[in-house]
Amino acid sequence: MAYSDKVIDHYENPRNVGSFDKNDPNVATGMVGAPACGDVMKLQLKITDEGVIEDAKFKTYGCGSAIASSSLVTEWVKGKTLDEAAEIKNTAIAEELALPPVKIHCSILAEDAIKAAITDYKSKQEK
Ligand code: FES
Ligand code: FES
Repeated sequence: MAYSDKVIDHYENPRNVGSFDKNDPNVATGMVGAPACGDVMKLQLKITDEGVIEDAKFKTYGCGSAIASSSLVTEWVKGKTLDEAAEIKNTAIAEELALPPVKIHCSILAEDAIKAAITDYKSKQEK
């Protein structure tokens, strides 16, 4: 199957690969897996005390579309509040990357990773 130019661009030049210290109170970690294929995505957000995402990093063990989806999301979340980031939909990711139907679940993984990171951050705040 042919990947779109945008997928290839993110796949060959992934943005913001890496990780932050997950024990940092300002770091949120979202780790999700895709049951369909076994791929795993880790997304981390660095959040200011005011609740704005100032930085993001990812590590994805998966297909090109999953890597491209997570790379794209790290760009999209920067500067957003947590509420704004929670509104990022997999459909927008799939549209931006022109993902074919069989690769839609890769973009769902990225949406789920954002949500998982936000949940992690909220549970940290409650401690
Ligand atoms: Fe996930 Fe292809 S099925 S890498
Ligand atoms: Fe499974 Fe892309 S995440 S094929």
